[in-house]
Amino acid sequence: MNSKIINFIKKKNKSKIISLTAYSKNIASIIDRHCDLVLVGDSLGSVLYSFSSTKKVTLDMMIEHSKSVRMGVKKSLMVVDMPHNTYRNPKEALSNAKKIISKTKCDAIKLEGGKKVIQIIKTLIKNKIPVMGHLGVLPQSATNFKFKGKETAERKIILRDSKLLEDAGVFSIVLECVESSLAKEITKTVKVPTIGIGASVHCDGQVLVTDDLIGLNKIKARFVKKYSNIEKQINDAALNFKKDVVKSKFPTKKHSY
Ligand code: KIV
Repeated sequence: MNSKIINFIKKKNKSKIISLTAYSKNIASIIDRHCDLVLVGDSLGSVLYSFSSTKKVTLDMMIEHSKSVRMGVKKSLMVVDMPHNTYRNPKEALSNAKKIISKTKCDAIKLEGGKKVIQIIKTLIKNKIPVMGHLGVLPQSATNFKFKGKETAERKIILRDSKLLEDAGVFSIVLECVESSLAKEITKTVKVPTIGIGASVHCDGQVLVTDDLIGLNKIKARFVKKYSNIEKQINDAALNFKKDVVKSKFPTKKHSY
């Protein structure tokens, strides 16, 4: 395990871990100042491309966006999501993870699932590829987006999967829409940091989709908090530009040659 990953794990029980998504350089370079981990999430499929699910996101899309993000991320751990159907067996997963790492120079990859993907995760880790796990709501295979952990049987599976992921050697686990007391139990049980999205304050860290955080993505999920309204700011800038152009107030001499 490299020192960047080791330092990341050491944050558990010391300081809260801050994580946000980025799909391009400019946003990445801003959030990098405040993050421990920048995730190139396959949420880009719905956020940028209006796909109905993340299933349509391709490896090439993830690689191209990640190359842009890489230019902006200087200090945070940069993690790239492996998209749907790119890790159906250990051989496919290894070949695609190597491709992502060599082309994007990211620090680690993330993939979704528990017991079903354990052999795949073990193969990647055996080949020195740092892996972040993802449990709870799994958008690549989800049929609904209801929170997980209400029923006892479901709770047991998610708790078991968190231990399996830890034993397989993941360096961190995203918990997406996991019931609060279950997220707390997992966070206490595993030695690696849990990063929650809709999974309560009990996780070791939190992640949000940056476009949701800044009010650029029109989403109404309970777990999202809008910290700014960039949509309004872009709208006002475009409107004021239009007004100036219509009235020939722009460009002035200062902006001309
Ligand atoms: O794709 C993504 O952005 C994610 C986060 C929501 C954790 O997986």
